[in-house]
Amino acid sequence: MITFEQVSKSFGTKENEIKAVQDVSLEINKGEIFGVIGFSGAGKSTLLRLVNLLEQPTSGKIIVNDQQVNQLSQKELRKLRSRIGMIFQSFNLFSSRTVYGNIAYPLKLAGWTKNKIDERVKELLRFVALEDKADKYPENLSGGQKQRVGIARALATSPDILICDEATSALDPETTDEILSLLRRVNKEYSITIMLITHEMHVIKSICNRVAVMENGKVIEEGQVFDLFTKPQKKTTKNFIRSVLNDQLSYHLYEKLKKEQRGRMFRIIFKEGVSNEPILSRTCKRYEVDFNIIYGNINELQERLFGSLIVEFIGEEKEVQRVIEELAEIVELKEMIEYES
Ligand SMILES: Nc1ncnc2c1ncn2[C@@H]1O[C@H](COP(=O)(O)OP(=O)(O)OP(=O)(O)O)[C@@H](O)[C@H]1O
Ligand SMILES: [Mg+2]
Repeated sequence: MITFEQVSKSFGTKENEIKAVQDVSLEINKGEIFGVIGFSGAGKSTLLRLVNLLEQPTSGKIIVNDQQVNQLSQKELRKLRSRIGMIFQSFNLFSSRTVYGNIAYPLKLAGWTKNKIDERVKELLRFVALEDKADKYPENLSGGQKQRVGIARALATSPDILICDEATSALDPETTDEILSLLRRVNKEYSITIMLITHEMHVIKSICNRVAVMENGKVIEEGQVFDLFTKPQKKTTKNFIRSVLNDQLSYHLYEKLKKEQRGRMFRIIFKEGVSNEPILSRTCKRYEVDFNIIYGNINELQERLFGSLIVEFIGEEKEVQRVIEELAEIVELKEMIEYES
């Protein structure tokens, strides 16, 4: 649906070149929610703005709906842009227009009749649950309500693609979740492909199917969200994941546990949804070994469980060894001999 083929975009002069996007190749499939995550300045907004040609690529191809966007005539480009809705961190609403007026605006531009506009706007107001705010001005709305207007306006001309530039970054956590579930509905109920960029792993974890990690203009890692969470390769990816999983012990707590340690301490890593089985208790019982869960962090992602537990095994050395060997056949175990950061 959206293909980037070795796309680069530079700003500035030859002597002072800023390589905002460097040799990016990506394929975003119809119907998916694709996320791009990266720190500030990674090139995310530039990448997104290339989709509807708000930025011209320096080199490479961008193909949307089988059309190479950087080869379209002005007329074709206008048509393509009406198939791509866009929402922003700062909402970008017209302050001089009401909620109704904001949503109606793209339809007016497209030459719809008053009656048809009215019908469509009311339908969209219902979809974003703002029927009672139709006559209000943006300054009288909360951030979450403003973004709902932004979404309704972006959907007005029934696009097939919605691109979102940090759509929840200006919102508190609760409102973020409300907007994310609205985006999930946009994807499901209207079958709209979503490409979003964010610097928050929580957003990726909540709604994305696939994700690309960007750093210094490049995509450094890409894949299914579950795979990225359970098998991250790059340090930046690991850091982003850590921000939502919180599975590290502090050094202070680690030291304290080591002092009080009675048995061997392991981190047990669950990757493939086996963490809901009572494998620990079953195995330990068989060998008369006690176990003590010191720290636990099991997460749900796309209806699968993964995470880790820090467990101390207490018992006769030989028996403990047996338990560990048996568990190692089912789950990944790492003995905690020194502090890992
Ligand atoms: N119009 C422009 N002119 C010059 N440099 C630009 C322009 N737009 C972006 N850049 C530069 O390109 C790089 C990537 O910027 P971009 O806005 O794409 O990053 P980002 O990942 O969206 O960051 P943020 O999370 O802060 O929004 C930065 O170094 C930025 O300064
Ligand atoms: Mg940006």
